[in-house]
Amino acid sequence: MISFEPNELSQRQVHSYMLGGIAPRPIALVSTISEDGILNLSPFSFYNAFGSNPPIIAFSPARRGRDNTLKDTYNNLLSTKECVVNAVTEFMTEQINLASAEFEPDVNEFEKSGLTPIDSDLVKPKRVKESPFQMECKLIQMINTSDKPGAGNIAICEVVKFHIAEEILNDGIIHPDLIRHIGRNGADFYTKAFGEAVFSLKKPPSKPIGYDSLPDYILKSGFLTANNLAKLALSEKIPTLAESENYYNSIPLTEATENTFWVYYHNNNFEKAISCLKYLISINSYKALTLFELLIQMALDNEEIEKAWFLVIYYRKFYDKNR
Ligand SMILES: Cc1cc2nc3c(=O)[nH]c(=O)nc-3n(C[C@H](O)[C@H](O)[C@H](O)COP(=O)(O)O)c2cc1C
Repeated sequence: MISFEPNELSQRQVHSYMLGGIAPRPIALVSTISEDGILNLSPFSFYNAFGSNPPIIAFSPARRGRDNTLKDTYNNLLSTKECVVNAVTEFMTEQINLASAEFEPDVNEFEKSGLTPIDSDLVKPKRVKESPFQMECKLIQMINTSDKPGAGNIAICEVVKFHIAEEILNDGIIHPDLIRHIGRNGADFYTKAFGEAVFSLKKPPSKPIGYDSLPDYILKSGFLTANNLAKLALSEKIPTLAESENYYNSIPLTEATENTFWVYYHNNNFEKAISCLKYLISINSYKALTLFELLIQMALDNEEIEKAWFLVIYYRKFYDKNR
């Protein structure tokens, strides 16, 4: 473990570790307008949402580490108190990279990046036509964290109008595969927040039993991962031995060799694999204990949590006998 206090490293190094360690970050493509009417567009990944009533977002146009100067976005925001925050999608990646270049304050960054400005309804800064999620915002507070190079200025803004393209909605929900967000990691790395990178996770019940209620013999399992065990810990109650026996007794017996078991196991056929295992147990196969653990894992991976619990409780019988 590398451990340090921030003043032991250069600002650059601290910044680099923060970028890598606090990731992936959403990217705000922020549109502002100068007092002279020059359009500005820049990406900011020190950005997030902080409440929905009223809807609040914040991002950080920081002081440049190189020369401690302030960014055009910061200056524009302070003078006009308005911006539009646009979501960044895979189709705009190279263009937002262009928009991040340090153009002079009198340069129109929509023109430089090739992105299309469209009028907003309630604020002067333009929306980015190519972005399917746009928020018209008013600055409510700017916090300066210090006046040193690399210091963050936190622009806290209230969203006064949302614009959402219909094509990113599925049953009224913004679907990751439709909006196709890009996120920011450290160094030159970016993240695609869609496709194989996306998975779903059900919210926990109001009172899960918790890790500390898991039986000791299952915590010692050589196969079950921390994620497997946490799935068991997310349950609201542990089944009784009688319920588990009922389940086990209802499993049909399939005459099998160990190889038959493996065929079903590798084809993710839980019902067949468990009925082979029941047979192997009935003939006192010496591997039954190990195979039992594998099937608990298979049930958990297949989201068959109740069946996994029945097996966990029933498993105790063999565990006590064989260990
Ligand atoms: C993906 C991405 C994320 C960025 N995030 C930030 C950020 O959170 N804060 C910041 O000050 N600069 C950030 N930058 C750099 C600014 O976009 C860059 O300094 C830009 O030139 C500022 O433009 P402006 O002077 O027109 O406001 C980021 C750049 C990229 C490409």
